[in-house]
Amino acid sequence: MYIATAGDGHTASAASATSLPSSPASAIPPRPAQHWWRDAVIYQVYVRSFLDSTGDGIGDLAGVRTGLPYLRKLGVDGIWLSPFYPSPQHDHGYDVADYRNVDPVYGDLAEFDLLVADAHRLGLKVLLDIVPNHCSSDHPWFRAALEDVPGGPSRALFHFADGRGDNGELPPNNWRAMFGGPAWSRIKEADGTDGQWYLHMFTPEQPDLNWRNPAVPADFDKVLRFWLDRGVDGFRIDVAAGLYKHPELPDSPDPTADERTRDSVNPLAWNQPEVHQVWRDWRALCEEYTARDGNDRLLVGEVSVRTPSEQAAYVRPDELHQAFFFHLLTARWDVDVFRKVISEALTDIAATGSTVTWVLNNHDQVRTVTRYASGPHGEGGGVGPARARAAALLMLALPGAAYVYQGEELGLPEVVDLPDEVLTDPIFHRTGSRQHIRDGCRVPLPWSGHASPFGFTQGTDAARPWLPQPEWFAEHATDRALTDTRSFWHLYREGLHLRRSLPQLGEGALRWLDTPPQVLAFVRGDGLVCAVNFGTEPVPAPVPGSPLLASGDCPAGTLPGSTAAWWMHAADPGTDLR
Ligand code: GLC
Repeated sequence: MYIATAGDGHTASAASATSLPSSPASAIPPRPAQHWWRDAVIYQVYVRSFLDSTGDGIGDLAGVRTGLPYLRKLGVDGIWLSPFYPSPQHDHGYDVADYRNVDPVYGDLAEFDLLVADAHRLGLKVLLDIVPNHCSSDHPWFRAALEDVPGGPSRALFHFADGRGDNGELPPNNWRAMFGGPAWSRIKEADGTDGQWYLHMFTPEQPDLNWRNPAVPADFDKVLRFWLDRGVDGFRIDVAAGLYKHPELPDSPDPTADERTRDSVNPLAWNQPEVHQVWRDWRALCEEYTARDGNDRLLVGEVSVRTPSEQAAYVRPDELHQAFFFHLLTARWDVDVFRKVISEALTDIAATGSTVTWVLNNHDQVRTVTRYASGPHGEGGGVGPARARAAALLMLALPGAAYVYQGEELGLPEVVDLPDEVLTDPIFHRTGSRQHIRDGCRVPLPWSGHASPFGFTQGTDAARPWLPQPEWFAEHATDRALTDTRSFWHLYREGLHLRRSLPQLGEGALRWLDTPPQVLAFVRGDGLVCAVNFGTEPVPAPVPGSPLLASGDCPAGTLPGSTAAWWMHAADPGTDLR
């Protein structure tokens, strides 16, 4: 963390600069049980890559348990666990074969219960990833559907249809799958003949469930209760704008929509009006649990729709509590783009009564350090880390909730040169393209030491991590980050702790300040000012004196390029800011 003191440009701790308590983890005030999610910061644990306790080279639930004190120290409010259910892992758990169990590679239900108990003891919420749009082709329902006859009750749990063409040899419609190829695969009937086709909007191993069949919502009701009864605090909902398809399954107006890009969306496969009733039902179910003990259960949706106003429909007061705001995550490093998406979010999402759920990184996207390294024309060079640090302070100063993806707090860059033979992302295997592949942000975390496995996996017989870690991961290992006060880790920790202790941060209003071009600045509450310089040249700081916290060296009175800072401003910030 870099913090400037008055005048001299040297670093000091936030405590000495502001007389704030240093907020040791044990002193963090507990959050109110109700509405805790409105400004919570949740840490996304990609279980497979977090910490391996068994030496098989794959992270597991016991590893997550071991890491909980680390997360508590960082200062997050809870964790979201990526899917750990039994799965053939064609899409690393987003192909669920049993929604009510733990894959043996990750542990078992007893280990899960211990994890929840430990997390709660440490004051951390636990969110699970629930995947309702599709299951695995290994799920007993799909196996039964393959055995069933056309039109039979097991087929009706999915989207089976006869093919077109003289012999049914063409898919029932022109829809494309998100991960490449047609969204339909043809099966062999029990007698060995070519048979019907089934719909899969992702891979063929992820058949889409038919939510118009009442047995599907009924079973998910049981699944949610199963985990809520085990004490979880809510769910991250995969593909929450999916689930319902146009009832007639007609051709898409754009025959290339959805293929390898979400820019062109098939309007008949996503965002159908019927899906909102599912979220109303799930919200009512959560409220039922809240009524028992006053503790909110959270539903946060992965809602990939075109505009913030479309997204707002998903977070109406009786639907999802929150939806990830991906327009910030996809924004390029440009002051006008950032200002526009933040303003739209605050207008459209906050107007629903929900809070905006900011996110800069996740398991599907190139990490910020790498993403911000070059502009649209290749400019930018080595500024990726500085910009990623600035973006982190910006995100933590915005009103609402935020999600931090594991490794983000270490400033991990994307691993861009994984050899083809280790790549596991179905996008690579189904398209043959390295574009948009997701393995590079999923490489197992470095915890300690100077060589792979960097403490990720233990024991002399330990298998290699499931994806190879580059040598340069040593620079980012947790043990180093914890001792280096200029590390990303300290910046995140200090930002998170200030966020907890300053009433101006978290929920509440934001007021933009007039700034020079390239600078974005706003005031929170009665005088917390956040400014980000998107340019490369220093500008006068909007507030005199030293910042509370800055993402880079920040001498008093100046805001250098690719830097963000927070100041407390005692006077009415409307009257005398530069
Ligand atoms: C979501 C997940 C992604 C997964 C896909 C299919 O977008 O974030 O990882 O591959 O859904 O379930």
